[in-house]
Amino acid sequence: KGKRAFIAGVADDNGYGWAIAKSLAAAGAEILVGTWVPALNIFETSLRRGKFDKSRVLPDGSLMEITKVYPLDAVFDNPDDVPEDIKTNKRYAGSANWTVKEVAESVKQDFGSIDILVHSLANGPEVSKPLLETSRNGYLAALSASSYSYVSLLKHFIPLMNPGGSSISLTYIASERVIPGYGGGMSSAKAALESDTRVLAFEAGRKHKIRVNTISAGPLRSRAAKAIGFIDTMIEYSIANAPLQKELSADEVGNAAAFLASPLASAITGAVIYVDNGLNAMGVGV
Ligand code: NAI
Repeated sequence: KGKRAFIAGVADDNGYGWAIAKSLAAAGAEILVGTWVPALNIFETSLRRGKFDKSRVLPDGSLMEITKVYPLDAVFDNPDDVPEDIKTNKRYAGSANWTVKEVAESVKQDFGSIDILVHSLANGPEVSKPLLETSRNGYLAALSASSYSYVSLLKHFIPLMNPGGSSISLTYIASERVIPGYGGGMSSAKAALESDTRVLAFEAGRKHKIRVNTISAGPLRSRAAKAIGFIDTMIEYSIANAPLQKELSADEVGNAAAFLASPLASAITGAVIYVDNGLNAMGVGV
């Protein structure tokens, strides 16, 4: 029987979330996505107008279908958490039920259960500031959007995940090695995400037989990465120095995610899996 996946963090066809959706769709999964509320309108319009049709093509020639797009803001767990200025913001007021708890409830109502949960989102308002210049608010915002958002998603979706299910997030090597430019507490947020992957794997494994892994991905020219500002340098650095001297494609990360979500990975949990052309293995650039 086909599996159902919910992928949080898809708002265009350039990021890892989109590529993961495609690989899962190619493997036969039904696709639901969660799209950041401020990006929802343009994403749905582009989808409807066929702007993504070229990148919806799957290996067998068919087009990926997204069964449903849910508005989501993963920094809010339930309506009580939403401050007045967001509630009345016109980009938010046009949508409803977009806190994590409400999205999980909507998915449960619409579909009953899911098998695969993907977290492909991050945000750090001060990412371009060095850690030494990062404010407390900026640091906590990075952790809230990029790390706790995953704890919250898993917590709220576990009750509707079938036993044997799989959950995946995306991380970056800046958690364990210094990557100047990845600031604002984003390196800290990824370190938290990786540590949480181990603890959540234990808790979700024991209680619900669900696997929890994270993919440490190499550099990709996504919307989020372009906003950080050093992505071209990172891609060039990787091509020059990684064991595999090629540009990483989002599909390679998508395929690794499809493997991790499948029964082929039934004994893999609590792991950080590198999909980065091997760059993590290098001690110096040559
Ligand atoms: P992306 O721009 O495609 O995805 C980030 C998504 O997060 C966007 O769709 C954005 O709308 C969404 N988002 C931001 N704040 C949100 C919130 N509060 N609630 C819900 N959604 C929110 O960019 P990318 O790069 O594909 O990012 C996906 C994941 O991959 C992130 O966790 C990122 O840190 C990770 N990653 C990216 C790398 C890269 O070079 N692009 C390298 C390693 C990891």
